Amino acid sequence: MPGDATADRPAVRFEVEDGIGFIIIDNPPVNAISPDVREGIVTAVEKGEADPKVKAMVMLGAGRSFIAGADIRAFGKPRPTPRRTTYDALDGSTKPVVAAIHGYALGGGLETALACHYRIAVPTAKVGLPEVLIGILPGGGGTQRLPRLIGPKAAMEMIVSGRHVPAGEAKALGIIDMVLPGKDLRKEAVAFAKGIADKRPVPRVRDRVEKLAEAKADPGMFDAMRKSIARKARNQKAPYHCIACVEAAVTQPFDEGIATERRLFNELENSDEAKALRYAFFAEREVAKIPGVPKDLQVPEIKTAAVIGAGTMGGGIAMSFADSGFPVKLLDANREVLEKGLARIRNNYAVSVKRGSLSQEEMDKRMALIEPAEAYEAIADCDAVIEAVFEQMPVKKAVFGKLDAAMKPGALLFTNTSALEIDEIANVTKRPEAGAGTALFVPAHVMKTFEVVEGAKTSPATLAAAMKLGRDIGKISAYAGNCDGFVANRTRIPFNLEQGLMIEEGALPEQVDKVMVEFGYPLGPFAVNDMSGLDISYDTRKRRAAENPNYRGLPITDRLVEMGRLGQKTGKGWYRYEKGDRTPIVDPETHAIIKQVAAEKGFAQRTFTDEEVLRRLLFSSVNEACKILEEGKAIRASDIDVMWLNGFGFPRYRGGLMFWADTIGAREVYNQIAIWHQRYGARWRPSRLLQELAETGGLLREAKGRMAK
Ligand code: 3HC
Repeated sequence: MPGDATADRPAVRFEVEDGIGFIIIDNPPVNAISPDVREGIVTAVEKGEADPKVKAMVMLGAGRSFIAGADIRAFGKPRPTPRRTTYDALDGSTKPVVAAIHGYALGGGLETALACHYRIAVPTAKVGLPEVLIGILPGGGGTQRLPRLIGPKAAMEMIVSGRHVPAGEAKALGIIDMVLPGKDLRKEAVAFAKGIADKRPVPRVRDRVEKLAEAKADPGMFDAMRKSIARKARNQKAPYHCIACVEAAVTQPFDEGIATERRLFNELENSDEAKALRYAFFAEREVAKIPGVPKDLQVPEIKTAAVIGAGTMGGGIAMSFADSGFPVKLLDANREVLEKGLARIRNNYAVSVKRGSLSQEEMDKRMALIEPAEAYEAIADCDAVIEAVFEQMPVKKAVFGKLDAAMKPGALLFTNTSALEIDEIANVTKRPEAGAGTALFVPAHVMKTFEVVEGAKTSPATLAAAMKLGRDIGKISAYAGNCDGFVANRTRIPFNLEQGLMIEEGALPEQVDKVMVEFGYPLGPFAVNDMSGLDISYDTRKRRAAENPNYRGLPITDRLVEMGRLGQKTGKGWYRYEKGDRTPIVDPETHAIIKQVAAEKGFAQRTFTDEEVLRRLLFSSVNEACKILEEGKAIRASDIDVMWLNGFGFPRYRGGLMFWADTIGAREVYNQIAIWHQRYGARWRPSRLLQELAETGGLLREAKGRMAK
């Protein structure tokens, strides 16, 4: 957590050397702006102004970054009012101040740099205004200064996307004045500062107007931006307030624009979306931590890796490696499958190139990082392997046997399974301590959840190495104990079941989808089914039905499959599709099939309210999540939220499954589940943990599970 000043180590130091006053921000780990940092900067600028020896000032960050922004933990709580803002102090300085940036200058960090008179950076530095990603807007003058510096259009794009801009691009845009070689930032900054020390007047971004003219020539740019974000920014205020602020930079004088920015910032700070997004930010950092792992644990380093199986999942995993610049061998013993897999990867990249989101050069680089292999000897030297072959136990066991024989001692063996018993797989080898599960989600190169499953014999070092590997390939690693479906899928299964059952009871697919899209999902669950193919779990259901006479299955889905309605690929599924168009069209034929199967089976049909649809789907998962925590198969409720945000497309501005459930309250969730338990039977048995939280008024999102072992 960002510390504050202590008596022996102030958050901001001021040093004078050779005519230059150094303002050094030292608030580990990321120099977040706490009240002490704010006051420290103001005091330092005032000292520099007062000291005749000081000709210019240089602001530097100690440690790995310049400044990563305001202290996010302080939002939503009362803060002291500063006697003078840092921005006013910097703007008002009669001596030039140079921001010398390394690492990150984000949010309030970049805003501080924008209030300085010059900005220089090392080539690896990154700048950005990512406030929108935590549901607020740049509140330190960023919405007023950035448009003046780089023009409203470019500023709006940066502020609304929140993206990090690398130094080279920042120079081209005009955010920074010079990219330095970066060998010795302090020395290079001194040379720069001496070069501008006598220039008068000191350049102030607030005084610049020339770039604002661009908006006058293109007055429709703000509405065009609003229109372009409408789908993604549904139900959110922050992106629109960001646009409104940039518009104010064009239409209002600087000080009025700042007042507008302040007013809109205040509206957002305690909004539901800001609270949810702040929670998600910290949950995604907390999830990396496994309690009880010794700090000095020797974690094996994974520098080379292989993926087994060139199907959709294996290919997606290989792409994740390549996307992170990590070389990977892709092994498939079947040459045809291997070639097809590589062609699919190439095609995925080519689509991105065509769309303009990837350059041809970058695509070539990534393809070159994926080395095809047909024999286990070719991967024997790799430090780790992720197996992603067919989801069938005998196939997985055979692969693990071969891996154990071929791989060098010490190599780690991970299995990407969504449900199979990982101990049974690891026990095929003579090194079960080096085995763990790593469950990824479809499409694997897009979805960020990387569930690390601990087997009975997995060593702490293997577990830690798997968690790190996930992060190294751009994913968010999350711990799961070993249980059927692990954590993410296990919480999702009841949702899928209720989805099918509600249709039997009379809800229509388009109603369910509408409710979930309005809630914030990019697509409704039935439209997703049509995309993946309704036949996916048909065989499993048939097998289960053959094994268990009480298994009731999903007769309506089965009927659709038997009628050849497999989804988009056959032009009909839950919806129908026009040729070459993926837009789902409501189909009266589906309604007739639902009615007919319901009549045959004697399912009573009724209508549903939208609220009931939403709660039936999500409460079933909340209850299961509580059972998982109760059994100690997850570390924290917030880890489950991270999995839902990054594996299932749950709307981020709702925080996650458990955060959202807290907005309703454990008591109400429990009462509803208890009613459904009475009505529908065992599948709705309320979790003990949920009952406890309902009785004590506790928060679901703060619930902790025991460690699995
Ligand atoms: N406030 C408080 N804590 C912060 C923080 C911030 N702005 N930025 C990072 N931290 C904490 C993290 O929670 C983490 O703490 P932990 O070790 O206790 O878990 C620690 O610093 C290290 O962070 P990361 O693990 O994220 O380190 P990385 O090196 O992976 O990433 C980073 C560094 C890119 C700077 C990333 O931390 C980040 O994106 N930070 C947030 C940046 C941001 O949103 N800034 C805007 C803040 S809002 C603002 O400035 C408002 C202004 O307009 C008024």
